[in-house]
Amino acid sequence: MPTQPLPSFPPGFRWGVATASYQIEGAVAEDGRKPSIWDTFAATPGKVKNGESGAVACDHYHRWEGDLDLMQRLGVQAYRFSVAWPRVIPEGTGAVNERGLDFYDRLVDGLLARGIEPFATLYHWDLPQPLQDAGGWPWRGIVEPFVAYADAVTRRLGDRVRAYATLNEPWCSAIMGYDFGEHAPGLHDRALALQASHHLLLAHGEALPVMRANAPAAQHGIVLNLNPGYPASDSAADAEAARRFDGFFNRWFLDPVLLGRYPEDLWTGYGDAAPDVHDGDLEAISRPLDFLGVNYYNRTILAADPGELGVRPADGPADAEYTEMGWEVFPQGLTELLLRIHRDYPLPPVYITENGAAYRDEVVDGVVDDPQRVRYLDGHLRALHAAIAQGVDVRGYFAWSLLDNFEWAHGYGKRFGLVHVDYATQARIPKTSATWYADAIARQRAVVGSGA
Ligand code: FCB
Repeated sequence: MPTQPLPSFPPGFRWGVATASYQIEGAVAEDGRKPSIWDTFAATPGKVKNGESGAVACDHYHRWEGDLDLMQRLGVQAYRFSVAWPRVIPEGTGAVNERGLDFYDRLVDGLLARGIEPFATLYHWDLPQPLQDAGGWPWRGIVEPFVAYADAVTRRLGDRVRAYATLNEPWCSAIMGYDFGEHAPGLHDRALALQASHHLLLAHGEALPVMRANAPAAQHGIVLNLNPGYPASDSAADAEAARRFDGFFNRWFLDPVLLGRYPEDLWTGYGDAAPDVHDGDLEAISRPLDFLGVNYYNRTILAADPGELGVRPADGPADAEYTEMGWEVFPQGLTELLLRIHRDYPLPPVYITENGAAYRDEVVDGVVDDPQRVRYLDGHLRALHAAIAQGVDVRGYFAWSLLDNFEWAHGYGKRFGLVHVDYATQARIPKTSATWYADAIARQRAVVGSGA
């Protein structure tokens, strides 16, 4: 384990952990919850590794108190969780299910009682199945139900939640879900995916004023996953490949949200697949934010390619470290990414809302020693500090994830937790990385205080 203490982060910087509803809660048919697109997708043969699903997951729905106690023992100051839409409005539209909201009500009070700030995400991919049946995110009619759902949640939880994010990673919802088919609902259509991305952002923008009215003291924002593209060589063709990837992954979301327009080059490049956009949509999408959540895991290296796309991902350096996901460990990418968005956009305060790594952890004599994850976290926190030192306003960091959990199409095989979960017994064992993180937080708090 690195023994060098981390440099001091600014006063008031928040140290947190993150999770998402479908990945940890289980209890998919309890207290009125109805199926989401992930229940359907996971039940479709061949979609999720080993046919696994979030039906039980970490059983957090029943074990939440113990999980909050665990967080308190780690000394985390903030917890980013997501609210399951199919618990709150099980049919997607219509009646609010108060029993579904009761769970989050108790969770929020439980966090506050333990001195942990609630950071809630409204949509971390569990769309009520009836809304997919009506057309899903490519259907413009989905915006209103999302706003009604955002209204129900923020009305009930109000200002007890410190920060609300509308969406988690709309790139994944749209592209992984409707184009690459690797996530629910598992479709393969670029035009549908781009239309989905537009309606996700529109739903975000239209929900903001309603959320602000219900929770005026809370912060309101959105979470994007940003993946910087690096050219495979110094050739002009590879530089262009990296630029195109950056457009597809990052600018397609950053530009409308922060600048109120779609990037010209992509719009032209997409041709007939470009989404249908109505007057006023971009004004709604670019409503001011209190924060931008950034999820950073890795970079992508790109090379020019003679094929149809003109671009292909290239291998990373042979001497780099790779996680169990096959993702290159590249902390410097976080510094460069933050400096770049700070330079290119009128940036609100930033939270790193996810960062972490999967490794092949093993329990040996009741202990899970994960020095690689410690190195990953240490490296990324130093990289984050470097960006802050160069002027980027970053207010907090959330490690992904508190617990090992259901890693979407990968099932339970990929473990991202600071805390190991034995899925047969639901026993939780904090890994070495949890102890390391707790220690890092305690040191920071001793130096700068907890701040306000
Ligand atoms: C992100 C997701 C999160 C988790 C991590 C590993 O894309 O937001 O739910 O799966 O990746």
